Formats: sequence, C-alpha cells, structure tokens
Amino acid sequence: MTLDDEARAELRELAAAHRLRAPRVVDGAPGPRIVLDGSLVLNLASNDYLGLAGDRRLSRAAAAALEETGGVGAGASRLIAGNHRAHAALEAAVGAWMRCAGARVFGSGYAANSGVIAALARAGDAIFSDELNHASIIDGCRLSRADVVVFPHGDLAALEAALASSAARARRRRLVVSESLFSMDGDLADVERLAALCRRHDAALVLDEAHAIGVLGPEGRGVAAAAGVVPDVVIGTFGKALGTYGAFAATTRAVADLLWNRARPFVFSTGMPPAVAAATAASIQIVRGAEGDDRRRAVAAHARRLRAGVPAAGGASESPIAPIRIDDDRRVMAISARLLEAGVFVQGIRPPTVPPGTARLRVGLMATMALPDLERAIAAIAGALADGALADGALADGALADGALADGALRQEGAVRSAVRGAGNDAGAVDKSGAGDGGERW
Ligand SMILES: Cc1ncc(COP(=O)(O)O)c(C=O)c1O
Repeated sequence: MTLDDEARAELRELAAAHRLRAPRVVDGAPGPRIVLDGSLVLNLASNDYLGLAGDRRLSRAAAAALEETGGVGAGASRLIAGNHRAHAALEAAVGAWMRCAGARVFGSGYAANSGVIAALARAGDAIFSDELNHASIIDGCRLSRADVVVFPHGDLAALEAALASSAARARRRRLVVSESLFSMDGDLADVERLAALCRRHDAALVLDEAHAIGVLGPEGRGVAAAAGVVPDVVIGTFGKALGTYGAFAATTRAVADLLWNRARPFVFSTGMPPAVAAATAASIQIVRGAEGDDRRRAVAAHARRLRAGVPAAGGASESPIAPIRIDDDRRVMAISARLLEAGVFVQGIRPPTVPPGTARLRVGLMATMALPDLERAIAAIAGALADGALADGALADGALADGALADGALRQEGAVRSAVRGAGNDAGAVDKSGAGDGGERW
C-alpha cells in the first residue's frame, strides 16, 4: 500500500465514524454575515466575539505598517533579525493593558500555550491540567516531559487533593493550567479558588484566557482581572475577540525574559508579520476603551437573549460561547447541515474535539450581529432542535451520504463540497484527547 492508499483508507474510516472534517471557503470580510461556499449565511460559528476581525481600522493599521516598512514577513525569528519595532510596541501595549511587567508576543495561541508550558515545566516537575483544557495546553504538557495530573473539569477538591499529595510536594515545580472561559463549554473556571489553591500549595498558575480576553473583565482583561486575581502567567489570543492573529503571555519581567530563552516556538519560529502586530496594537486600543465596553455589553446581551430563546444552550449566562448538547455525532452534523441550508451557520462539534457522546452545536456570538439576524438564528436553531425528522432514530440512512462522503472527500472540490454539506466539519481540528499521559483518554 502506498501512503496515498493508506490515507484513503483512513479517510474512509473517519467518514464511516461520522468524523471526517474538511474546510469550507469564506469569501470577503469576516463578520456576522459571511459568504460561505458561495452562499450568504448568518455566522454563528466564529470566535470574533467583538466583531473586530473585519473592522477597517485594523486593516488600515496593517496597511499603513506595510506601506511604512515595505515588508510583509518578519524575515527571521525575533531573536535573530526578525524583532521589528512593531513587535516591541505591541508588547508594550499588552503590558500596559494587562498591567504586567513582562509581556511576550507569540505567533499563535497554539504556539503560546505549547511553548510557555514546555518552557516552564520539565522532567521532574508536575503539571495539573483541567480535563477540558485545549489541545495546545495538552501538547505543551506532553512536550514538557513533566508528570501530568489531569483533574476532572472544574473539580477543585480533586485538584487540591492532588496538590497536597506527597508525590506532588516532592516536585521541583508544580504548575496548574486551566482555561478561564472554556472553549467548547462556555463555562467559567473559578479563578479565585484556583489562585488560592495555588498559593496554598506553592504552585504556579498558568491561565489560558484565549476566549475571555477582550470579552470579559474590566477593559476586556479577562476573568482573572474581573476577579482581582493575578495568575503567574495569563495567555491571551489575538485571533479571537481582538480580530487579528497571534497571542501573548502576560507575566513578570523575569518570566518574560526566560521565555525569550526557553520557549521553543518563540526561539525557533519566524516572528509574527509586523503589520499584524500593528493591527493588533490598534485593536487593543479599541478593546480597552469605551467602544470595547459597548461591544462587550452588546455580546453579553446577545448571549442572554440566545439562552432565553434556546433554553438548551449551555455555558455561563453572558458567555459568547453557547454549546447545545446533541451528544450523537451523526445527529449533530445533520442539524448543523439543516441550519446551513436555512442560511444559519452553527458548527457541529464532534470528538476528538469534545469527549465521545458529547457532540454539540457550538454557537459563537458576535457583538455586531444585528438583532433581527439574531432572532432569525434563534428561531432557526429552536426549530431544528424541535424537528422530529432530525431525531436520532428518524435520520434516513442516505441523509448524511456517508458512503458518498468517503469517496467524495477524495474527489474534486465540487463533490467534496456537497459531501461536506452532509457531514460537516468541526471548528478547528483541535484534539483534546490524552492530556499529557501519552494515551488517548477518549
Ligand atoms: C482555549 C484555547 N487556547 C488556545 C487556542 C489557540 O489559539 P490560536 O487559534 O491563536 O492558535 C485556542 C484556539 O481555539 C483555544 O480555544
């Protein structure tokens, strides 16, 4: 068998398990209405919570930086010839905003999490990681070679017991890692208690605020800032509410300096394009100010309205992430496909992004979605959930065209597109399985 044959066989297996993924194509600017695979749809599938990704002020800031420097790429890693003034300015802007002495900018949230965790823990250390942490955290744990203790989601009693164990106390360093606003559940970590536990057990807290930065807390500084807590490291992403690309670690001066030296994605990877850094600095100014407050209020109001109209929608009441549990992989993709036909894009999320048996629609809200559009989306979602034809047992065999999909995925784009209509694809092929224990938990 050639590699190509093996790849085809694997793709067929994925299709048979209703787990095949393939990207759709967006034309034009991101926003609450997008052109997806050629059709105009309402977009409830993004992380652009404040609606800034398509904001002209950001693209103008990027264009001005491109014009001024005449260059697109950074040209090298930031430690060599790729550290441009725009990077330094962005780190200063992050430091002032997040009120920290040390800020480091990374190429992506994935690079930040995997790099920071592996830089701060090593063999002989222990990392305590919430079981629903993002794949980039899991991969950081694995790369670190530290022992990883995965605690049940939000179970701080279990975390405390693990931290108090003699095995944990014997470690050189203990690192507790958690998301603050969980990406697929839309719920919040109890950061106050997390921080208190860390203090009590002499552990460092790394808090991934990827989905909270910009959206929650004073000036959009996240859940920890809202609770008056200062974690040892806050990870924030620019690719979600900030509307650009990249990420930061907000920390002390010494930890930030250590990251220059030890964070591998930082040392061994090209710097973020300076124009993206310039656009991000412009975004931070908007997000911190009164306009940011208005956008935060708008998305919180949308979140409350959605939960009132779709009682099955989970997550914290003002969280822009609202999971609607369907559990069955096949059914969730059928509902997602039905909604798309009605012009409403809500992504179905299946394992391994979420644990088996917990497939869900993941609604991602945007501050800039017009109210009539939101009402239309709510009505469509409520209707699809109530539609008996989409109930588990009632799904006609051919409805999802899985057989066709297995081949379709290997055919030309048109065929793939129609197959994808049936089977869908998850938002980002993130893998939350096997948090550092070397095996797949799910
Ligand atoms: C919780 C969390 N952390 C980190 C990341 C990675 O961020 P990025 O998309 O910038 O790589 C994601 C992305 O989905 C995420 O959900």
